[in-house]
Amino acid sequence: MVTLETIIALCKRCGFVYPSAEIYGGLNGVYDYGPLGAALKNNIRKFWKKSLVTTDKTIVFFEGSLLGPESVWQASGHVSNFHDPMVDCLECKKRFRADEIDLEKSCPACGKKNWTAQRQFNLMFKTAVGALEDASSVAYLRPETAQAIFINFKNILSSNRVKIPFGVAQIGKAFRNEITPKQFLFRTREFEQMELEWFCKPENAAPDFEYWLNQRKNFYQAIGLTEANLRFRAHEQTELAHYSASCTDVEYNFPFGWKELEGIANRGNFDLTQHSTHAKKDLSVFDDETKQSYLPHVVECSVGADRLMLALLCDAYSEENIDGEKRVVLKINPAIAPITAALLPLSKQLNEPIHKIFKELQHKGYAVQFDETGSIGKRYRRQDEIGTPLCFTYDFDSTTDNTVTVRDRDTMQQERIAISHIETVIKKKLGF
Ligand code: GAP
Repeated sequence: MVTLETIIALCKRCGFVYPSAEIYGGLNGVYDYGPLGAALKNNIRKFWKKSLVTTDKTIVFFEGSLLGPESVWQASGHVSNFHDPMVDCLECKKRFRADEIDLEKSCPACGKKNWTAQRQFNLMFKTAVGALEDASSVAYLRPETAQAIFINFKNILSSNRVKIPFGVAQIGKAFRNEITPKQFLFRTREFEQMELEWFCKPENAAPDFEYWLNQRKNFYQAIGLTEANLRFRAHEQTELAHYSASCTDVEYNFPFGWKELEGIANRGNFDLTQHSTHAKKDLSVFDDETKQSYLPHVVECSVGADRLMLALLCDAYSEENIDGEKRVVLKINPAIAPITAALLPLSKQLNEPIHKIFKELQHKGYAVQFDETGSIGKRYRRQDEIGTPLCFTYDFDSTTDNTVTVRDRDTMQQERIAISHIETVIKKKLGF
């Protein structure tokens, strides 16, 4: 299995992910996405959205604010409950999550044993809104995207032609002041969530939970994660939040072990109840059949886009030995590969005609790259490493017979095709 260090090095080398503010020494647990990382993440977002709109369910998309007043987070339970236990080593001053180390043993950093008492540390980033800093100005950067959906439930219902059951989906940033951010993109302080909140009648919550669980299984299969590296772990009764009727974690076998990738939960009517009570607003809906009002139940599917990207990179990375030389290849699903095709002139003298084809494809919206530097073998390796499924090479014969060589990333097989077929070959690779 690939090591995390190999993935981190690949990300830096190829321009997927950089440590944030690196030239100033970095900011722990925060990352910047380079051109390829931004493209890959965008394709992941699109794939997730497509997986929702291609169901036969009603889903609307939403974008909530990142800042929220304290009242929202009081109602949601984050102010009083969103804590991790922490301890400090009094010798070396290193800070740890108390539930991740054995306090009977010495400090893993300095080898001495001199712990502070455990303290609870709230993971939310607190700030003040406006010029005056008093109790009324307290706000928080959202630690999850979901709450903005719950507090807008009535707005969405009344301003769109939707009725129960329907889903509200959102992709956006979330912030958690993790005590020990680690494992690269796995646990960061600023990250992106892709969340679906499915509102349904109470009696349908259990079957709808099963429906979404199944949909999410299909999603992971379609996006191309290896089946053997995925498992769906239903929470034991003792693990469930008090309001949650059922919860299943999608876990991925990362280089550092099996870890949560997504949480799928039947949250009951906990969230709408909390906001109804705290905001003193009626968030119930009227059922035309029973002639009664009720608070809808919620099934939530919540996955981190960055965590998913890390899983996809780990899953796709492979090394092969080709005639005694190492070939690094990202065997990523062509539909999410940051670059779909590279256009390569065999010699710089041939730049013009293939650059014209490159521009035409780019104008049509394809993710293509033009690369003229280095030997053709080197250029193929470069594209393999970033997961480009197709390379088209324009050579001296192309000028007379109007054909190019197309090379497949995974099989490395080459074929001669007419220039007029380039777009068709790309479309086929993308599954159109
Ligand atoms: N609304 C439910 C919720 O936020 P969560 O299990 O705390 O539940 C959902 O988060 C998903 O968000 C996780 O499964 C993970 O993929 C991602 N996530 C959570 N904390 C993260 C962090 N610090 N860094 C990167 N991704 C994170």
